[in-house]
Amino acid sequence: MEILSGGRENAIFKRNDTVVRPLNSYSSSIHLLLQHFEKQGIEGVPRFVAIDGDNEVVTFVEGQTVNYPLSGAAASDAAVKSAGKLLRCLHDASVGFIADASYKYQQWMLPVREPVEVMCHGDYAPYNVALVGNEVVGIFDFDTAHPAPRLWDLAYAIYCWAPFKTHVYDKLGELPDQIYRAKLFCDAYGMTKSQRQQLVATMIERLQALVDFMKQQATEGNTQFIANLADGHHLSYLADIDYLQQNGKQIIAGLME
Ligand SMILES: Nc1ncnc2c1ncn2[C@@H]1O[C@H](COP(=O)(O)OP(=O)(O)O)[C@@H](O)[C@H]1O
Ligand SMILES: [Mg+2]
Repeated sequence: MEILSGGRENAIFKRNDTVVRPLNSYSSSIHLLLQHFEKQGIEGVPRFVAIDGDNEVVTFVEGQTVNYPLSGAAASDAAVKSAGKLLRCLHDASVGFIADASYKYQQWMLPVREPVEVMCHGDYAPYNVALVGNEVVGIFDFDTAHPAPRLWDLAYAIYCWAPFKTHVYDKLGELPDQIYRAKLFCDAYGMTKSQRQQLVATMIERLQALVDFMKQQATEGNTQFIANLADGHHLSYLADIDYLQQNGKQIIAGLME
């Protein structure tokens, strides 16, 4: 077995053409979602294969994986556009999943958010996609998937892809470059005017929810989040909230052009 990097350390492995990952209390809900995508014939998402002890086995999504700081293929216009298109495809394909109200009784890592429109991926960031050339062709790590409005997923995805991140390590370009990339994503997804108008406010709310979630998990003894807080990860999100508040009007104006 080969260790896969880019997520939790020493926890995710490649075995032949599959990936072996730790099970969580909500994994069975995620497996139903992956099986739904399979029935819909959606390409570029892992297929659920089996449960093996305390692990799940899913298929390996072929392609190059990337991380911050974004450069090369991940920083290309084509990557942002294809990421936006793939998210639209996943959201549309998930409508049939939430049409069956049983999702309400399933367990998810993140809270169900009304009005439920689609299944959100929950962490649709460059470090969770696979690229071939400059095109995003796949997405994995569905642990954070949960039922919510489309805009809730778009907010976090565009925050990560623009990226509206201020930390020197994560930052890419200046505000006009970030607005340009955000607009590419909005256009590729086919976001409405109303969604664009609400995007920055929703990003801020999504980031605050993330910081609250990290703190709550740490209080409950989750060692991963205790370490994240000790490393000051939440401070980056709070700085980015400030950045979005300061530049919100300019960002929205750019997205509406
Ligand atoms: N189904 C998959 N197909 C291809 N690569 C994967 C798949 N699942 C995980 N990986 C690789 O393993 C890394 C860590 O897995 P991930 O599921 O993202 O872990 P975590 O939940 O800790 O973020 C990813 O960044 C990616 O490189
Ligand atoms: Mg990941």
